Amino acid sequence: MAVALLVAAGRGERLGAGGPKALVMLAGRPMLEWSLDALRAVEAIRCIVVALPDGVVAPAGTIGVAGGEERSHSVRAALAAAGDGPDDEPILVHDAARPLLTPELVRRSLDALAQTGADAVVAAAPVVDTIKRVRTDAPGLHVEATLQRHALWAAQTPQVFRRAALSRALAQPDDVLAAATDDAGIVEQTGGRVHLVESPRENLKVTTPLDLRLAALLLEERC
Ligand code: CTP
Ligand code: MG
Repeated sequence: MAVALLVAAGRGERLGAGGPKALVMLAGRPMLEWSLDALRAVEAIRCIVVALPDGVVAPAGTIGVAGGEERSHSVRAALAAAGDGPDDEPILVHDAARPLLTPELVRRSLDALAQTGADAVVAAAPVVDTIKRVRTDAPGLHVEATLQRHALWAAQTPQVFRRAALSRALAQPDDVLAAATDDAGIVEQTGGRVHLVESPRENLKVTTPLDLRLAALLLEERC
């Protein structure tokens, strides 16, 4: 069995909807409900913990916990609220900001963790743009390098971890956690082995108003 941690405690500043992003209405429901549907449909998930903005009531059938200042602090709070379990128990972390999650992707990610023996498995999509790296030590947008696109993947969630690997990563000092945009990145830094599973670009993250419009169109198409 596995545990799912849904992080939904962000402020949604870039979306600018005037309230927490996970509660913004999307195709007729609060955004986080779409991810919850996908997680609830997976038999292997024994418990769902949701990191929420202060004062928000936990959705039905979930354990609610107050989120932290940064995303990784919310993941840490959610893991603590899930209680104890075996060291190799799969812990799935998902952003409520990715409402197009499917049960199929959740199952495939959990299967990949079991089959690869990795410490973590990350859903990711091949990069479609050509990526340029610019100098960060000088003004102006001076290109330093053009990266090899075939080797580049855009990380998404879900990310599935062996409990011990995630706990070790989250025990890093607060400044290391605050700088991380991705839990699997911390696992890599602490010597863990991380694999990818291919995921569609449709599993997009709602960051800006454009993403919200796109997500609404895609979800309405599904219904
Ligand atoms: N998140 C969280 N706790 C935080 C910050 C983020 O639980 N302190 C969650 C968000 O709710 C979201 C996911 O982490 O589901 C990814 O974060 P992001 O897309 O950056 O969302 P926000 O932090 O809400 O948006 P912004 O950075 O624009 O304020
Ligand atoms: Mg954020």
